[in-house]
Amino acid sequence: MAGMIQLPDSSAIREFRAFLDANEYDTVHLTERLGRARPPTPGETGQMFDDSKVITTANVLIRLFLLGSTIDQATAREFLPKPVVNFCARSGLLEIVDGIVRASVVIVPIDDLLFVSDAFRILGTREAAGFVLPASTHSANFLRLLTMRTPVDSALDLGCGCGMHALFAARHSKKVIATDISEAAIRYTRFNAMLNDMNNIECRQGSMFEPVEDLRFNLIVSNPPFVIGPGETFVYRDSNLELDGFCKLLVQQAPAYLAENGHLQMLCEWVEQEGQSWEERLNDWVRGCDAWILHSSPVTPADYVEQRSSDISGDDVNTGSADDWTAYFHVNNVRAVHPGMITLRCREGLNWTHLQPLLGDVETPAGQAIMDGIAAIDFLEAYDDEAILEAVLCVADGLEAEQIQADGKAVGVYLRLNNGLSVEAEIDGPVAAFLNLFDRKRTVQECIEKFGALTDADPDRLTSDLLAILKVFVSRGFLLPADVE
Ligand SMILES: C[S@@+](CC[C@H](N)C(=O)[O-])C[C@H]1O[C@@H](n2cnc3c(N)ncnc32)[C@H](O)[C@@H]1O
Repeated sequence: MAGMIQLPDSSAIREFRAFLDANEYDTVHLTERLGRARPPTPGETGQMFDDSKVITTANVLIRLFLLGSTIDQATAREFLPKPVVNFCARSGLLEIVDGIVRASVVIVPIDDLLFVSDAFRILGTREAAGFVLPASTHSANFLRLLTMRTPVDSALDLGCGCGMHALFAARHSKKVIATDISEAAIRYTRFNAMLNDMNNIECRQGSMFEPVEDLRFNLIVSNPPFVIGPGETFVYRDSNLELDGFCKLLVQQAPAYLAENGHLQMLCEWVEQEGQSWEERLNDWVRGCDAWILHSSPVTPADYVEQRSSDISGDDVNTGSADDWTAYFHVNNVRAVHPGMITLRCREGLNWTHLQPLLGDVETPAGQAIMDGIAAIDFLEAYDDEAILEAVLCVADGLEAEQIQADGKAVGVYLRLNNGLSVEAEIDGPVAAFLNLFDRKRTVQECIEKFGALTDADPDRLTSDLLAILKVFVSRGFLLPADVE
């Protein structure tokens, strides 16, 4: 059965890992050889198969564990040492049927870690319901790149799947607890902790916060089953709660499991219903925490149904019909689905919520950008206008400015902050000149005065206009207090 790998003893798994390493089964070499180190998703074919067709030990590993191909048993015997084949068969990584060898799992390298999980081919079979996601999915990597990597005492990965977030958190946490409702997920996480020689991860099976009832954490990460729809089939994506109910519960319950100043970072999809704005819906969920919310473009119900229906297909699996899904959105008055990532910080006192638009994709680590974003909102909350005028601000490192031309004339400036979140804005020439005045020496007041000397605008009006602009710049990360840089 998929996911029911057996836990080996630690010396056997160490030898298996050493064998994979020796045969360059890692991010760097796979990318060099194949152009990427991710397994193909169903329907993807082509070049990766051609690039690994010469039979060598490295290519046998690639064909089995990355591409999900079969090889005959004689080739396996010739190119893989007997103890490796025995180990893989015993642990449930390989199946040998009628002289044909094939992997029951996929092994995905991310940075210098390796993650064993179900192979994509499980989707579309009878075993799809319990599918444990490979570490190569977009959502998993989105959350990994957005996670804040500050050293902490304790972290929780809720809904750990193959354990990717738990293992990355284990590098900056004294102790990590990984939980999942699925027994298969718990086994994979244990296996992967051993495969990567990590011994500060404890795995507990159970739903939501049940396995960690009396504990509080400095960091909780979760890529929950957030898909919104009538389906109840797939444990990795269908929560069996109405609409966005699972994410709502997570946001509502998390504060009870966070230490003071502890953070929850979770992926989320939430609905916008007739008669309520999406901002209001989210605000209603948050209690006792500051909320910094990264918001991607909303999707119409029709597009959502199309995208999600095409995630999974197969003769043996019942995904429900697109018509039922559309009707479900209609009955529930859903106007749009909003995707994003919620960061909560548990803090006593008057809490704030900040919405940050995300225009593109996230391709490089952006945890620091989120920490800076939180610090920026703290600054704006703590400083009234008078205090801001006395503050010294500076332009963020990584801010690029490019002139916008029209008909050969400069008509404005395009700003782009390269902090992983690709924050962008178009501003006009005078605002760009104002931004340039922040040199880490002048106070805000001095910058405004210097700018004012170039115009004949009313000084009070100018101050209030420039303060408003400056607050947007700070909240977007373009400007920051000089002493926090
Ligand atoms: C989208 S997958 C994410 C897996 C993994 N964290 C990743 O990012 O690849 C959601 C995970 O939540 C788990 N899950 C579903 N319902 C749950 C529940 N009630 N409590 C805890 N985990 C749950 C699923 O088994 C699955 O592993």
